Formats: sequence, structure tokens, C-alpha cells
Amino acid sequence: MASLTPWEISEELTYSDRLKRFVHQQREEVCVNGLPHVLKPLPPKATMNGHSSPHQTGDLICYDILNRGPLHILTCHFSDIPANAPVRGAHRHISAPTLFCTAGKGWEWNDGETYNFEVYDLLVVPPYTIHQHGGDRDVGCQIYVPQSRMIHALGLLHREQIKFADKPDFPDGTEPLYDSEKKLIGYRIKKGILGITEDIDVYLGPSPDVEGVFRARLETKEWSGAVGNTYDRYLKLLGEEVKFCKTITHVIRFEEQPWEWTRQGCLKWYTHPQVDCSARRVWLYLQEIPPGSRSGTHRHMAEEQIFIINGRGYDIHDGERWNWQKGDLINIPAMVEHQHFNADGGNPVLLMSSMPSTCTDLGLGGIEQVEDAPEYNEKGS
Ligand SMILES: [Fe+2]
Ligand SMILES: [Fe+2]
Repeated sequence: MASLTPWEISEELTYSDRLKRFVHQQREEVCVNGLPHVLKPLPPKATMNGHSSPHQTGDLICYDILNRGPLHILTCHFSDIPANAPVRGAHRHISAPTLFCTAGKGWEWNDGETYNFEVYDLLVVPPYTIHQHGGDRDVGCQIYVPQSRMIHALGLLHREQIKFADKPDFPDGTEPLYDSEKKLIGYRIKKGILGITEDIDVYLGPSPDVEGVFRARLETKEWSGAVGNTYDRYLKLLGEEVKFCKTITHVIRFEEQPWEWTRQGCLKWYTHPQVDCSARRVWLYLQEIPPGSRSGTHRHMAEEQIFIINGRGYDIHDGERWNWQKGDLINIPAMVEHQHFNADGGNPVLLMSSMPSTCTDLGLGGIEQVEDAPEYNEKGS
């Protein structure tokens, strides 16, 4: 496979930007065209934060792309919390994640407040919030976390581990760190891992470098000064953002979101620009396809990742067929025409679709409809 680590190529700096652009564009196209559009999920295993799967199409770091699926910015992972599971760890990062409960029920702890959720509810954790989640003691829960790498491209990947899981599993190449009283205070990443030439010690708790920044934003009051120019509007915006996150819901409930019969089929949106919530990484909707039926056909600039919650069927992507079943991930590259088919004549299919919010901000969010879902004329409005 073509190299996607250009910083390892010594002559990289000697060529023009335009030359490099076309070389990397060609390499990426080779990767996208060679990767499967339907993936079996990598299973959850014990981690230092609890039972979770690896990110399915690369971690949130921008370098970790086009290794498993043909997507640049989208990835996801799963947290599996069995009944009576050990308590999970707690952590904090900058942008707001979305966590969708695919089975069971549980709770989410955000900066001292607990929010309960049921199956098919979506949790939204506001920025800078220390968070921890758990499953119902009797039935546990499974959580699907659709993600975008946008946050790394913005230089805002920062994450802190506040507390380890009750039974942490430290990966190969690391070792736990203890203080003089044998208390676990962090872990050491040993030199040699990912080419590092010195050990890196990672300590539990808020990082002194960013604590002041996070605290200042979280404690900002509403702007009371004059708003006389464009710059003032951004001073006012900070207070508005903080107030919004303090008053907005942390759980978008399945029962509260309407099903809509659209040209693409029967959709239930959870996040999009007009939904009041702090989630801004990905736009999300559920889609139900009746037994033996199909979605509409459409095309958009944004790439798309879809988790199959229930059912079996296949997709057609630019004329090519891709079979899928419950638990699989469909990966639709940017600019590809696509349609979903339910291959089961007796049961509906349930899909959760994610698309990067960034395309909307860039003026590239529009959708081109090629063919309507067969039920639209009868049920749509
Ligand atoms: Fe998180
Ligand atoms: Fe789509």
C-alpha cells in the first residue's frame, strides 16, 4: 500500500506543494479504491478505561486513516458494559462526543450530574466535561460512538484520563506508575512504541497546561459589555456558548424525536444544525427500511458511516454491490451514489447513519436525490 506517512520521506520538503498534492491525492485514491465498503466490527476488549473496542476505521488522530475503511474523517468505537461490570474510568476532552445506546440501558455521569438513558437514546457530553458511563446492573448496555477526526485537524485533540477503570488493562508497551504509597497515578509508554525515543509518562488528572483554559471557559458569565463591532460579537459568543451548554439536554431521547417519511425513506434525526444540543462532530439519523424494501438513492459530498443495528441486506455504491448484516459497518466514500436494500422480506432493517458536520460548515452539505424511496409517494409529505 502507498505510504501515508509523508514525514518519513526525507525528500518531502524539497518538492513543490502542487507536486506533493497530486502525489498524495493519487496515493489516497488508490487506498480508497482498494478498501472494503462493509466491515465486520473489531470486538471490544478490556482497556484502561473499561471494556471498549478499538476505533473501527482508525483512531481520532489524522495520521491513522485509510488503513481499514475507505473514509478520511469518520470512525467509531463501541463500549460494551455487561451486567455487573467493573466501574469504568472517567476522562475529559474538548469537543462534545455522541454516544448511542444500541442495547440495554445505563447512566452517564457528567461533572457531578447523572443522566439515565434507555435503548436508542443518544447521549451528548458537552465540551470540557469530565464524563463516565455505566450500564444497568442487571442488563448492562452497549454503546456505539460515531466520531470525526475533525478535532485533531483543528489542533484540539487534547484528552485527559481522570480515573482508570476498576480493573484497568494496560496495553503492551506500557506499565502502570505508582507513587511512594503504592497508589496508581498514571502509566508509562515505553520508548520504542510508535518510534518514540524516550519514555512518556501520562499522569491521571487534569493537565496543568489546559486546566486554566477549560476553567476560564466553563466559568465565563454572559457578556454584559457593549456589542459595537464584529470583535465584540465573538466576546459575547463565548458567554452564549457556555450558557447554551449549561442549559441544554445531555440525552436526546428516541421517544422525543419524530419519525419522518422522506424521499430517502423513514428517518429519525438525532443531531443536525437545527437540533438544540452541544453535539457538533457528526450529524446522525436512524433509518428504518420496511421488509423487502429499499431506501432512496442519493449522493452527497460528505463521506458516510452506517452501523447496522438490526437486519440484513445490501448496498449499491456507484453500481457495485456490498452485502451487510446486523453489527456490520457500511463505509460510503465521499461523492459516491448509494442506496440501501433490505434483503429480509419478513423484518425491517434499522440503520444508524453518521456524516461529518464539517461539510455543512464548508457549504458542502447539500444532498442530491437520484431516486425516491418506494413508499415516499404514499407516506411522505
Ligand atoms: Fe469521552
Ligand atoms: Fe447517504
